[in-house]
Amino acid sequence: MKHFLAIADLTPAEFEQILTLAKKLKAEWKRGGNKPLLKNKTLGMVFQKPSLRTRVSFDMAMLHLGGQALYLSPNEIGLGQRESIADVARVLSRYVDAIMARVFAHAHVIELAEYSRVPVINGLSDYEHPCQAMADVLTIIEHCGKLKGLKVVFLGDGNNVARSLMFACALGGAHFVCASPREYALDEPAVTQARAMAKKSGGSVELFVDPKAAARDADVLYTDTWASMGQEAEAAVRAKIFPPYQVNAELVALAKRKAIVMHCLPAHRGMEITDEVMDGPHSVVFDQAENRLHAQKAILVHLLATKKSTSRKK
Ligand code: CP
Ligand code: NVA
Repeated sequence: MKHFLAIADLTPAEFEQILTLAKKLKAEWKRGGNKPLLKNKTLGMVFQKPSLRTRVSFDMAMLHLGGQALYLSPNEIGLGQRESIADVARVLSRYVDAIMARVFAHAHVIELAEYSRVPVINGLSDYEHPCQAMADVLTIIEHCGKLKGLKVVFLGDGNNVARSLMFACALGGAHFVCASPREYALDEPAVTQARAMAKKSGGSVELFVDPKAAARDADVLYTDTWASMGQEAEAAVRAKIFPPYQVNAELVALAKRKAIVMHCLPAHRGMEITDEVMDGPHSVVFDQAENRLHAQKAILVHLLATKKSTSRKK
């Protein structure tokens, strides 16, 4: 049984397959609607944190494909508190055909997968945001025509979104650069793993401290919040350290003339990105948000279309 927990777990072939499927399902949707590929299938959505995009795009993805999603709020299940993670997985996976979970610790989504009888999708953990990265790559390909060979620059915190983007660039042969204050850089083990992946695809991974040097000649500039969900107590300290990494007109001027600006959203306007850039001609942030819907349809079909509904043990 397949799960979708991290971009780092994908083979280049799986990565390509999901992207191809996303393009196909998006085109089909734009032509008038999707076929009911997930007719009568159900998705349980477990959230330990708030969400707009992930919650609504998964819900609509299931609806458009003929299935149904069930939202389970942070207070409802009490993952690991009211009941152990293993028991939640054992019970929930007897009711639904797939589970999507947004958790704090990445180890918790791995544990859910270990005890689940149905595929588990990571809807964001502290380590990766793999659904976001699939939508990001789809957006880059639509706007730049390709991923391979592009310079993709992430500015700010070396967080879950940056890490998934790094692995996606490594799989797809892009040149990934992450510019962060030294103590907020992407972790060495992940960078080493991504470099090994990039070696096979013709891509590269570089870490910078200087945001301006990083942004030079970029095809893609990408940023995210300086304090992720769960790091609220650090927000004031981070707000003093990160301003040099703000994506503003001055920084965009260093990138290629046709560079695109991306943000996974929610954005903190005036902090990691200015209004001028977010609402300006380089910004593709709302196309990117839309693509969550199309990329996740592909992830769902990829996981559920091959699952034999008769394989459930009693
Ligand atoms: N980008 C993203 O995951 O947004 P939400 O937190 O609103 O789901
Ligand atoms: N890095 C952010 C992404 C939100 C979609 C967070 O984890 O809060």
